[in-house]
Amino acid sequence: PSARTFYAEVGGAPTFRALVAHFYAGVRADPVLAPLYPQDDWDGAEERLRRFLEQYWGGPTTYSQERGHPRLRMRHAPFAIGGRERDAWLRHMRAAVDSLQLTPEQDAALWGYLEMAARSMQNRWDEP
Ligand code: HEM
Repeated sequence: PSARTFYAEVGGAPTFRALVAHFYAGVRADPVLAPLYPQDDWDGAEERLRRFLEQYWGGPTTYSQERGHPRLRMRHAPFAIGGRERDAWLRHMRAAVDSLQLTPEQDAALWGYLEMAARSMQNRWDEP
């Protein structure tokens, strides 16, 4: 049925949990990205991204209940995100998406969004 959400179609909560767990394992070990994140709240950061993505794709709206309107560009303003950070973020996310069992169509939909979103979060353009 057309009412079935992308969230449900790809497997719901366990799929999003696996996606962000894989992603954050990579980020935590990344010398470019790790210093940007709250070192004493990795679990919280993982939960915020997971809740946001679940909500975006039609799952529970817990993210906005807890955090309000996403306003993601504004929330990323404190972090210097240049091409290097954007590419590193996307590289870990690509590996995380690859770890899921998505159909090519699902993969293309998810990845297209993530690439667009990562480009829109970039806020520095003065790197070599
Ligand atoms: C939060 C970095 C792209 C979604 C954060 C935080 C950092 C960060 C350092 C703070 C962690 C926390 O305490 O929650 C980056 C970098 C990116 C990037 C370097 C590279 C382009 C994205 C993209 C999305 C996203 C593309 C969405 C698809 C979020 C969300 C939060 C967050 C939902 C939590 C916001 C909140 O409620 O406070 N990001 N991010 N980020 N990021 Fe990103």
